[in-house]
Amino acid sequence: MARKFFVGGNFKMNGTVKSIQSIIENLNNAQLDPNTEVVIAPPALYLLTALTAAKSHIQISAQNAYTASSGAFTGEISATQLVDAGIPWVILGHSERRTLFGESDEVVADKTKAALDAGLSVILCIGETLNEREAGITKDVCERQLEAVKAKISDWSKIVIAYEPVWAIGTGKVATCQQAQSAHKDIRSWLANKVSSKAAEETRIIYGGSVNAGNCKESASQEDVDGFLVGGASLKPEFVDIVNATA
Ligand code: G3H
Repeated sequence: MARKFFVGGNFKMNGTVKSIQSIIENLNNAQLDPNTEVVIAPPALYLLTALTAAKSHIQISAQNAYTASSGAFTGEISATQLVDAGIPWVILGHSERRTLFGESDEVVADKTKAALDAGLSVILCIGETLNEREAGITKDVCERQLEAVKAKISDWSKIVIAYEPVWAIGTGKVATCQQAQSAHKDIRSWLANKVSSKAAEETRIIYGGSVNAGNCKESASQEDVDGFLVGGASLKPEFVDIVNATA
């Protein structure tokens, strides 16, 4: 089965009611490649605004969800609540969550399980720091992060894996096509060896880290690059060009 190209826009903690409506209006009016699955992730406060404003071919994602379905967890949102509100996707394991908010591999795995159990699809982020890359342990780090998830779940059909080298996020220092392809190939081999050949064939592995309109086409042509998770450029009109990278 051919893997459908996937482009996610992670707005992070950016935007206002007005600016998010304007980004969505721009996407609604753009010619988006129908062969690309498009998912945008505004801050939680604006999820329902986005859900109402976006045309149906633009899906909406949360940027985080808690493990419990309800209870005394001030400030958190549950996967169950996202499903109740009609939000189909959640980003989990982003390096900013891991680094700034102390989310361990195990917490990310627990959140992934809770999200899948609730019925969400998950953009699962993994990736190494610069020190880890320089130490030659990129593959080990990605596999450790994936192993933690594998210990808690068995069905990978609703997971998109986002390989995001931490050193490339928001730095303007995009991974070369070869670096991205090599990491994605290793991740696909891990899926084949540790999950199933079906999961290896069907799971989208997308790249994130300083993707823009100028560098997306070359990366998109790599065999194991099935799309992108875009941060900064998803707030700009050039996001349309990234969605259309394979058109
Ligand atoms: O989730 C998106 C990534 O963190 C990439 O962010 O495109 O601003 O480097 P960036």
